[in-house]
Amino acid sequence: MATILGGITTSHIPAVGNAIQKELYDDPYWKPFFDGYPKIHAWIREHKPDYVINIYNDHGLGFFLDRMPTFAIGAAHEYRNEDEGWGLPSLDPFPGAPELSWHIIESMVADEFDITSCQELAVDHGFVVPMQLFWPGAPNNPDMPRAVPISANTVQHPIPTLKRALDFGKALRKTLLSFPEDAKIVVLGTGGLSHQLDGQRAGFINKEFDQYCLENIVHNPEELTKITRMELVEKAGAQGTEFLMWMMMRGALGDEVNEITRNYHIPISNTASGTLLLECAA
Ligand code: DHB
Ligand code: FE
Repeated sequence: MATILGGITTSHIPAVGNAIQKELYDDPYWKPFFDGYPKIHAWIREHKPDYVINIYNDHGLGFFLDRMPTFAIGAAHEYRNEDEGWGLPSLDPFPGAPELSWHIIESMVADEFDITSCQELAVDHGFVVPMQLFWPGAPNNPDMPRAVPISANTVQHPIPTLKRALDFGKALRKTLLSFPEDAKIVVLGTGGLSHQLDGQRAGFINKEFDQYCLENIVHNPEELTKITRMELVEKAGAQGTEFLMWMMMRGALGDEVNEITRNYHIPISNTASGTLLLECAA
């Protein structure tokens, strides 16, 4: 049976993709951000996951306002990104894992989560930038695990509640642990923390709320389910709703986790960037 090694979260800001392209790792603006990743690289090298479940929110590349699935799961042999207009390069395809995708889709639907299954899915910066951060050179990193993308709607209201996101993760945990292969799986939650890109509050960041979320997501994620969606928009910003991805990831890790590393840095572009590596307790 499969095991879940742990979960990793990171902001997925497109400007990070450009900074990677230009290798700005030691640039004074970027260094405090990139310094959050070597410990994660070491952990990945040590544990060598076979599969990565990449929980992200599509921003209009894979889905648009005319068709907006609440929860979508990729079931393709490979996933390509496309030009989104951020100046990010189109990369080689990321290898998929359709047999694991279908296992997840079957069992999530049996668990009464209504899933849009995608045998074709263009993946945007929400998926790609974290892959590049965790597996430098991705997708052409020899350690690159095969991927299952899972996207939840944070773009068009009504978005899922924080409780629904955590419950999704808990159901995902059950299905991953029942995958009949002796495989090691890592779960990503990408996006966040507080940010708002549009409207009168563009540039809004809320350090106090981010710290509250970072503290509770480690040992007390249930506490965060008390936050309503309107409160989440108010306190984290219109795009800070991406914290739902962190909740989905956290649900998949079970009750007990060990925090291996965290980083929090303001601002990167318009975002309070946050990174967290949680290992599942044995
Ligand atoms: C930024 C952040 C995001 O999460 C995103 O999807 C796009 C842009 C930003 O801060 O620039
Ligand atoms: Fe985003």
